[in-house]
Amino acid sequence: MEIIKLDKIDSTNIYLKNKEKKKDGIVVIAKEQSAGRGRRGNKWYSSDGAGLFSFLLEEKRELIEQGEERLPLIVGYAMYKVLKDEFNLDFKFKWTNDIYLYDKKVSGILVEKVEKFYIIGIGINLNNKISSEIENIAISLGDIVGEYIDIDKIVEKIVKGIYLYLDKYLNGEWRDILQELNTINYLYGKRIEIKMGDLVEKGIAGDILEDGRLEVFTSDGIKRYNIGEIHISNNDEIKSDK
Ligand code: BTN
Repeated sequence: MEIIKLDKIDSTNIYLKNKEKKKDGIVVIAKEQSAGRGRRGNKWYSSDGAGLFSFLLEEKRELIEQGEERLPLIVGYAMYKVLKDEFNLDFKFKWTNDIYLYDKKVSGILVEKVEKFYIIGIGINLNNKISSEIENIAISLGDIVGEYIDIDKIVEKIVKGIYLYLDKYLNGEWRDILQELNTINYLYGKRIEIKMGDLVEKGIAGDILEDGRLEVFTSDGIKRYNIGEIHISNNDEIKSDK
């Protein structure tokens, strides 16, 4: 693992995208980002003390054959496993790959593809203070554990974890991974809104399916989503058996 440490950059994902010599396993960690990017063109608040990093994963034939569209789920699962192992808190997995704690977001993942590489960008609230602007939706792990978290150490564990669980996926363990994901499925039983362009559909989220899509119970029947924006319209637990 080659680690590049930067004080300030626009975005660690952009840095790797523009890097001329790309190589599997290059990790870039930044103390600050001036233009942190989230999924669907959202901004990522990159406050001081957060874990902000991206790494390059080279495309593999087996991954394409077994379904590269599941990669974000595998990365999210690996995040969950590492955080659970490290902090043993009640983390949840929000499809497609956010990690939640006590109904607030701890970490987000942005997977992009450039040439023959996936750029896996991860933002995780570690030692940063959550600004009042987002305090209803975000949570910082340092505030919960009450001590300083070593960013480099956790980044290294996460990157190793991603390789480990990707290997398990490629070795046929998807069903076990999926089963565990469904026990920590944050959206399960919640009323959600699915936004695709101008189209908005309402429903109740169900399980994450074999092909990685999310099952949603709508007034028009059961639907399965793999694209678009998923918004939780409120936090009503319709079903409470999970
Ligand atoms: C999301 O939840 O929408 C994904 C957020 C991903 C943020 C990280 S921070 C490090 C890397 N660089 C970026 O510009 N984005 C990712």
